[in-house]
Amino acid sequence: MRVLVTGASGFLGSHLLESLRAAGHEPVAAVRQSSDTTFIDAHGFEKRVVDFRAPHDDLVAALAGIDAVVHSAGGGKVTSLAEMEALNVAPTEKLWAAMAQQKTPRAVLVSSLAAVGPSQKGRPHDDDSAPRPASRYGLSKHKAEAVVRGYKDQVHTVIVRPPALFGPRDSRIVPVLEMARRGVVLDVGPRKMAICSGRDTADGIVALLDAPTTSGDAFFVEQGVSTSIPELARGFARAMGRRDPWAVPVPRPALWTLAATLEAVTCLVRGKSPFNRDKLRDAAPYVECNGQRLRDVAGWTPRDLETCFAETVAWHAQA
Ligand SMILES: NC(=O)c1ccc[n+]([C@@H]2O[C@H](COP(=O)([O-])OP(=O)(O)OC[C@H]3O[C@@H](n4cnc5c(N)ncnc54)[C@H](OP(=O)(O)O)[C@@H]3O)[C@@H](O)[C@H]2O)c1
Repeated sequence: MRVLVTGASGFLGSHLLESLRAAGHEPVAAVRQSSDTTFIDAHGFEKRVVDFRAPHDDLVAALAGIDAVVHSAGGGKVTSLAEMEALNVAPTEKLWAAMAQQKTPRAVLVSSLAAVGPSQKGRPHDDDSAPRPASRYGLSKHKAEAVVRGYKDQVHTVIVRPPALFGPRDSRIVPVLEMARRGVVLDVGPRKMAICSGRDTADGIVALLDAPTTSGDAFFVEQGVSTSIPELARGFARAMGRRDPWAVPVPRPALWTLAATLEAVTCLVRGKSPFNRDKLRDAAPYVECNGQRLRDVAGWTPRDLETCFAETVAWHAQA
């Protein structure tokens, strides 16, 4: 299949390109005029400029010859609900409208566990969990899911909801790697959270493209092990051959103050902070999900966590 990957210049997008190629598909990287395409060019991936602000007919034309689209563009690096919707909902609406017209056969929406929201102690979300997003980001992803379900009879669409991701080329995991290296980790997150490596998430998404799915279905993807920030740092430290780092708990009010300060500073310099108050809304004590259905339907199995830690540490050492 010729598969267009939006957000191809991002962390997950880079893994999607590799996974698609490894599975024998022809990936096409959808990028913006301003995107950093160093990775895409270095690995010889075909690229195509796709602008979600372009007129409908231009978007339809950009989908010519494409058998499937994986829509990974988006994220949570903005703060207001309007910005979240402009990033995660509006492009989704335009893309699915264009796919419906172009009669693109298949699509995957990369949503998020945040679209369903935090879980309860000992009860990871499963596919029947009712969505209760806690953050603006989660709400925007929930809305994007509703958008694509509106097109499910025109474009065969599945939704994938990753948890916190990590792996090579993920700049957001670098602070945890650095803390693991220095031997002290700030415990700033949930007690139990699902995680998945970028490569395993991409492999799961690619496996779903060929799987017998029902249009409109949503799948969680996860590594099979719940963790916490200190446990993650411990895993990285062991992969580095270092001692287990000390975990220093950070009280919630201090985290809110830090997030608000970072937001104010990044707003002043017109930047985007990867850590903000909206992220904290999702960092409840339990943020777990069960990805068994993806394994059953797509025949996909995640790699073991130690392998993923080792490759992340190796990438960080070279970066
Ligand atoms: N990383 C995680 O932990 C995680 C967890 C759950 C779900 N997700 C979802 O997975 C997807 C990929 O995340 P990621 O971690 O790979 O994010 P990322 O590294 O920040 O990459 C985001 C990608 O989206 C593109 N993009 C952003 N705004 C755009 C716009 N207005 N028009 C076109 N492209 C735009 C970026 O293009 P430029 O390079 O041009 O900026 C980049 O390619 C997102 O939808 C995110 O919500 C991520």
